Amino acid sequence: MVSTLDDTKRLAIATKLAEMKAMQELLIATEQQLLTEVNDQEIVNDIRKMLESDQKNIGILDTVVVQYGVKGEPKQTTQQLVEKTKELMQGSDLTTYEKTAQFELLKHGQTMAGIVVHKAAQVVGADIEAAITPLNTVNFENRAHQEQLKGILEKLGTRELTGKDADQGFFARIQDAAAAVSGVVGSVVTQTSDKQDMNIQDIIRMDHAKVNTIYTEMGTTDDPQKLQEYFGQMYKDLNAHALAEEQVVYPAVRPFYGGDDTKELYDEQAEMKVMLDQIKATSPSSPEFKDKVKQLMDVVGDHIRQEESTMFAAIRDNMSSAQSEQLATKFKEAKSQIQDEMSKAS
Ligand SMILES: [Fe+2]
Ligand SMILES: [Fe+2]
Repeated sequence: MVSTLDDTKRLAIATKLAEMKAMQELLIATEQQLLTEVNDQEIVNDIRKMLESDQKNIGILDTVVVQYGVKGEPKQTTQQLVEKTKELMQGSDLTTYEKTAQFELLKHGQTMAGIVVHKAAQVVGADIEAAITPLNTVNFENRAHQEQLKGILEKLGTRELTGKDADQGFFARIQDAAAAVSGVVGSVVTQTSDKQDMNIQDIIRMDHAKVNTIYTEMGTTDDPQKLQEYFGQMYKDLNAHALAEEQVVYPAVRPFYGGDDTKELYDEQAEMKVMLDQIKATSPSSPEFKDKVKQLMDVVGDHIRQEESTMFAAIRDNMSSAQSEQLATKFKEAKSQIQDEMSKAS
C-alpha cells in the first residue's frame, strides 16, 4: 500500500498555500473597507483596480491548490491573525492612513509567502514547480501593488498630518523610474486588462505536464521511498484528473467530438486505472516497479496525445472561449471535490 501523504515538505507547502488563500481573503476584505473610507478619487481608482486583480488572483490561488493536489489548512495562529486584523480594519481605532500602512505590510507578507513557496517548490521537486506555475502571476501583481501602495501612503500620510496635499512628484517620479526599469507597470496593465481566465485546454495541459514531470523525476532515482512518494502523487493526480474529465469534460465534448472517439478516451482511462492499482500493490523496491510505471506511461502518453490533438481541436472549433473557460471552472471544482473525497477515503 502506497502511502501518499507522508511527505512533510509537501504538506508544509500545502499549509503555506492555504495560508496564502486566507491572507488573500483578508487583503480583499481590507480593500473593500478602504474603499468606504478613502475620499481621494485617484486613490479610490487605484484600490479598486487592486481589488479587481486580487479577486482574480484568489481564483488563481484556487487553481494552484487543485493543481498541487495536496490540501492543507491554515495554521490556527494565522486564522486568529486574520480575524483580529479584520476587526481592526473595520473598527475606528486606526486612521485610514494607519489602516493602509497595515495593508501594505500584509501585501508585503503575501508577496514574500508567494516567493518562498516558489523557492521551496524548486527545492522539493520539479512536479511541484510545474503545479504552482500560475502562482507567478499572483506574486508579480502583489509586487506591483506594493510599489503602488508606497505612493498612496505618502499622499494619505501627508494629508493626515498636515491637512495639505503632498508635494507631487518625489515618490511618483521614483516609482515611475523604477517601474520603467523593471517593466512592472506595462506588464501589469496587460495582465489585468487582457488576461483571460484559463480555458479547459490550459488546465488539462497543465495536469498532463505535471504527470510527465513526476515521471521524469521517477527516472532520476532508485530510492524506494522517493519512488513511493512520486508514485503516490501520480496515483492521486491521474485518478482525480481522469475522474474529473469523465464527470465534466467528456460529456461536454461528446456531441461534437463523436461517440466513438469519446468512448475510446473512457476505455483508455479504465485501463489506466487498473494499471494504477496494480502498481499501487507493487513494492517500489521490486525490480518490476519501474517497468510497470513505464507501461502505464505508454498508455497515458497515447491518451494525452489524443486529447491534446484531436479533442482540443474539436473544442477550439465548437466552443466559444467563454464556454471553454466555464468548462475549466467546472473541471477545477469537480477535481477539487474528488481530491477531498479521495483524501477522506485514504
Ligand atoms: Fe487528460
Ligand atoms: Fe483523459
